[in-house]
Amino acid sequence: MASPLIEVRSLKMYFPVGLSLFGRRKLLKAVDDVSFDLYPGETFGLVGESGCGKTTVGRTLVRLYRPTGGQILYQGTDIANLDEKAVLPYRRKMQMIFQDPYASLNPRMTVSSIIGEPMRLQGMPQAEITARVAELVEQVGLKKDHLNRYPHEFSGGQRQRIGIARSLAMRPEFIVCDEPISALDVSIQAQVINMLEELQDSLGITYLFVSHDLSMVRHISHRVGVMYLGHMVELASAEELYSNMQHPYTQALMSAVPIADPDLAQQANRIVLQGDVPQPIDPPPGCPFASRCRYCKPVCTEVNPEMREVAPGHFLACHL
Ligand SMILES: Nc1ncnc2c1ncn2[C@@H]1O[C@H](COP(=O)(O)OP(=O)(O)OP(=O)(O)O)[C@@H](O)[C@H]1O
Ligand SMILES: [Mg+2]
Repeated sequence: MASPLIEVRSLKMYFPVGLSLFGRRKLLKAVDDVSFDLYPGETFGLVGESGCGKTTVGRTLVRLYRPTGGQILYQGTDIANLDEKAVLPYRRKMQMIFQDPYASLNPRMTVSSIIGEPMRLQGMPQAEITARVAELVEQVGLKKDHLNRYPHEFSGGQRQRIGIARSLAMRPEFIVCDEPISALDVSIQAQVINMLEELQDSLGITYLFVSHDLSMVRHISHRVGVMYLGHMVELASAEELYSNMQHPYTQALMSAVPIADPDLAQQANRIVLQGDVPQPIDPPPGCPFASRCRYCKPVCTEVNPEMREVAPGHFLACHL
């Protein structure tokens, strides 16, 4: 295999959230000791319940946040602690696309000025910008006569295309797709997914793909990581993970996927999670999933299990 584009090592992102009773600073451990690699041209799916830290991982990788700890090796260079100025050249190679394309598009700007903005900020000559904008518009399947219109004149799927065109402007190598299709009509979702896959094929872009839609993640991802409460608990190729999931949390998460066929749904063994999701503020020692795990043993509440390789390329953090 090629060497990784990005190596994430023991990444930590803690947010200060007020003071404890004794005046000690309380920390919310949104991402705690997460490690994984991203290979050039792959799609890495990231799944887990709301609040488990997926968006925070994405925002930290593209250095919208400065991590509390750990390393982010971008082609071997640790960018975790670079200051604002030094990190700029890396930030340009990394982009993020969001769930709600409308919120990120300036309503008073035309499509052509929206897509051209990152290049203008770079001081690129106008003629070059115009040519590049035309190329981008074609790449994302919009038409030339869309260029002089405003965002409100477009459908959700078209707006997402505008946002994607803009994020491609500086030829990024890595894009975090944070729920990029969940605000779109089901009929449009497949079109946007196909476009993202085609862009990956032609441009070799690496994706971190965050989604609640587990079947979409399976479809689009080469490898998938499962997060729980700021930790990565299981990681494997999409095929291996969906057919041979090992972590009790992964099993519970996957069993909650709706099944279209009523007969199959009847037979399916749905695992209902018991217990509350603990807050990642001053978490107890041990496995983060212990309080809700059906198989919890004494060791699970005492020692946080390390990630280990249980089959080639299949990593698991569980004592069982
Ligand atoms: N800027 C912030 N300040 C304080 N806490 C934050 C901040 N951003 C996120 N958090 C907290 O960090 C945890 C992880 O949040 P995050 O948004 O990464 O989760 P997520 O997995 O993306 O959830 P969702 O699926 O709902 O988008 C949550 O407990 C959240 O409240
Ligand atoms: Mg999120």
